[in-house]
Amino acid sequence: MSPGLLRASGIDVRFGGVHALRDVTVSVGPGEICGLIGPNGAGKTTLFDVLSGMRRPDAGAIAYDGTDITRRSSVWRARHGIRRTFQRQQLFGQLTVEDNLVVAQDWRGGVRHAARRRERAAAVLHECGLDELAGSYAGGLPVGRARMVELARALADPPRVLLLDEPASGTTAGERRELAAVIRHMADEENCAVLLVEHDVAFVMELCSRVVVLDLGRVLAEGTAAEVRADPAVREAYLGAGPGRGDGDHPS
Ligand SMILES: Nc1ncnc2c1ncn2[C@@H]1O[C@H](COP(=O)(O)OP(=O)(O)OP(=O)(O)O)[C@@H](O)[C@H]1O
Ligand SMILES: [Mg+2]
Repeated sequence: MSPGLLRASGIDVRFGGVHALRDVTVSVGPGEICGLIGPNGAGKTTLFDVLSGMRRPDAGAIAYDGTDITRRSSVWRARHGIRRTFQRQQLFGQLTVEDNLVVAQDWRGGVRHAARRRERAAAVLHECGLDELAGSYAGGLPVGRARMVELARALADPPRVLLLDEPASGTTAGERRELAAVIRHMADEENCAVLLVEHDVAFVMELCSRVVVLDLGRVLAEGTAAEVRADPAVREAYLGAGPGRGDGDHPS
């Protein structure tokens, strides 16, 4: 396996009695869109928290561009190009859409850069088909539009790695197509490494060249979309051919 641009190795996370991640190794390379799927509670968001530096793992290491960043903060990682979106949206509702993208670049600081930050925000909004919403308050947006704004904010400062946690959740079919186009553009044209968590299996299968399946905190399977789809263990745990587990699962 290639070392990848961002690589988690042997990650363990416990929450009291819950063993949320067990010896998880995942990596993603430049220009690649890698899917991360699995039932509710499989550990997908926890893995994103570890990759983005929001949670320190109990064991294991994170490497970025060949350097160990396990002890680097989430702020350091964001500033060095590792960006994420959130399953539960985290936009600044009382700011406009444009300002959400401007503040994402504020660390570049200084009056000198203020005009550049606005220019960059406008360009990204345009790329994401959001020109008309630039002046709207983010808090008043329908969920599907807010998902696109969250993605746009993650792109405001050019990312090298994108961690997308259910970006298509709550979107219409049209919005999903727009999201897919932007994600594909980031991988193909910007050489970005994308790790995509999504319950919409069709969305994942269409976009991802490789898919990793998590179940009960472990990597259950890994392969091309077709390989993963055909894997009996994956079908039983997640894709609906087996008995299922609990009411919460929603691979839709
Ligand atoms: N802060 C926390 N405290 C205690 N337990 C937690 C915490 N966060 C997650 N967990 C538990 O860790 C496990 C993994 O949760 P996680 O949110 O990573 O799953 P997920 O794969 O993202 O699920 P979903 O598809 O529902 O988003 C679950 O059993 C969850 O209840
Ligand atoms: Mg989650």
